[in-house]
Amino acid sequence: MRTRLKIGLAVAAGVCATVAWFTTRPIVAADDRPAAAQPKAWVEYTADGKVKQPVGYRKWVFLGTPLTPNDMNGGEATFPEFHNVYMDPDSFAHLEKTGEYRDGTVLVKELTAVGTKELSSGKGYFQGEFTGLEISVKDAKRFKDEPGNWAYFSFGHKYPLKAEAARNNAASCNKCHADNAKNFVFSDVYPALNAVLKTTKKK
Ligand code: HEC
Repeated sequence: MRTRLKIGLAVAAGVCATVAWFTTRPIVAADDRPAAAQPKAWVEYTADGKVKQPVGYRKWVFLGTPLTPNDMNGGEATFPEFHNVYMDPDSFAHLEKTGEYRDGTVLVKELTAVGTKELSSGKGYFQGEFTGLEISVKDAKRFKDEPGNWAYFSFGHKYPLKAEAARNNAASCNKCHADNAKNFVFSDVYPALNAVLKTTKKK
């Protein structure tokens, strides 16, 4: 009987200690976490604030491929290439949970030329060679003065691409996104993104 009482008291003390630990534990701000526990940065910057070309993005989450071909735009589309769009995996996981673009989100738009227009399957638009690369990055600290904290970069529309890119001014990129997209991202034309936003109801 005594032993049971002792065990009971020990268990109760343990529970109290655990509850106390959880309730008194300080809330740690994301930036105070040790480096290993901090979210991975998917792009790096040079000392003078240019962004370096992201690596490995073709293995990120693939969102979709919009196309505005020349021959549907009077021969002169503003963006005549295919746009293969990817999001870094951490931001995609965050989006699945919250429906929001987290701070640090990186979107890559890789351009490919329109290649052949006929295959054994029929006539159509098929992707050719890689031709260019642009990205957008949301970062509240680094781009605190940009609308929505989104910054836009172009590594060029012709190979060889630039290894580093300076931020474009808001008028040449950000403004069109701010004016015409929901939350700066043209989510409606990315089926993989749209599907997630529908389930999180933040569309
Ligand atoms: C006239 C409007 C307009 C301008 C200016 C513009 N964009 Fe976009 N951008 C779009 C549209 C529309 C899409 C989605 C459809 C597509 O790719 O054709 C898009 C998609 C993107 C994407 C994929 C992610 C997303 O937000 O949907 C990136 C990255 C991007 N643009 C970067 C840039 C950069 C860099 C510049 C400036 C050099 C720029 N854009 C200028 C209209 C614009």
